[in-house]
Amino acid sequence: MDWTTLRDQFPITQRWAYFDHAAVAPLSLPAARAMTEWTTDKTENGEVNARRWDERVEEVRGLAGRLLGCNPTDVAFIKNTSEGIGIVAEGIAWRPGDNVVTAAEEYPANIYPWMNLKDRGVDVRLVPSRERRVEIDDIRSAIDGRTRLVSLSMVEYASGFRNDLGTVGSLCRERGVHFLVDAIQGLGVLPLDLGQIPVDFLSADGHKWLLGPEGAGIFYVRPALVEQLHPVGIGWNSVIGSRNFAKLDFQLKPHAGRWESGALNVAGITALGASMQLLLEIGIDQVSSRIMDLTDHLCEQAAQAGIEIYSSRRPEDRSSIVSLVSRDGDPRGQVRRCRAAGVVINQRAGRLRISPHCYNTTAEVDRLLELLDGPNQ
Ligand SMILES: Cc1ncc(COP(=O)(O)O)c(C=O)c1O
Repeated sequence: MDWTTLRDQFPITQRWAYFDHAAVAPLSLPAARAMTEWTTDKTENGEVNARRWDERVEEVRGLAGRLLGCNPTDVAFIKNTSEGIGIVAEGIAWRPGDNVVTAAEEYPANIYPWMNLKDRGVDVRLVPSRERRVEIDDIRSAIDGRTRLVSLSMVEYASGFRNDLGTVGSLCRERGVHFLVDAIQGLGVLPLDLGQIPVDFLSADGHKWLLGPEGAGIFYVRPALVEQLHPVGIGWNSVIGSRNFAKLDFQLKPHAGRWESGALNVAGITALGASMQLLLEIGIDQVSSRIMDLTDHLCEQAAQAGIEIYSSRRPEDRSSIVSLVSRDGDPRGQVRRCRAAGVVINQRAGRLRISPHCYNTTAEVDRLLELLDGPNQ
């Protein structure tokens, strides 16, 4: 792979050394072009080419299926990660005394929907991390006979710890517990094959590692569970004969499509599809190994500069997010100083968070390290 040429697809590289994909990614050029194409067509032709855009949405669904290793009809387009998690939180037939197990270090998108079930008698079990890791044994111990669901991120947003989805998924299957993955911090940069890994539900917006715009995401539901989940947010487009407006026939689509209640964010979906296509053409394995090289280099340089690496960098734990302990105890100040020097990083949980994508370079990483190791620090 020619990573230098790839940079042409990311105009952001002309202005910034951008290491903040764990917050919001820049659009790739193909994504921007796809969106412009949609805007131009809508401006000039209104609804005349609607069929073409419907086909485009189905093409992107096919790409999502390839990315996840599932059937395209197992995927619904959603407006963000929270929507997908909400579909599950509001769709399970809870009984008082049930519980949900998740990690204490999860992003709030994967905590509040469960806390919101308190009035239905559902308890939320927040498993604390140990040694900067979410331990499988702790998840196992938190599960009991009343656990209905384990809900975890593919990668923890602040520490960058990569959960072992295969092991947790198998554990859930053994115990008869559903497993939901908030995949927004991993999808696009870490391989995931739902044909191999037992996941029941998955939700991810496209605005981080998938290099899409905000407001266009994907929700996966295992086909066998479609009928078990009470359908929430039902609309005109949830039924089999959705285009036959004059004939009412309330038969829900027999797949994830029933959760696409009405008009879709076609501009966002087409842009997301263009970035997905780019990533799939490179190959997610290649993207992943490139990012591991970059983040390993970052950690080596940071260690040499005496900067403490918070993230677990064991081969099975590491991800595209690196959390560093700020040497001067002022991560916000460091983020500001970096930005003034053209380098975009972020801070989370009182630490620096660096999140490069595959088009970043080791030279950019070195530039960042000079700033973090500079006289102001
Ligand atoms: C783990 C995780 N989940 C979800 C989100 C965002 O949720 P949404 O797509 O609903 O805005 C973030 C954003 O930072 C995140 O890190």
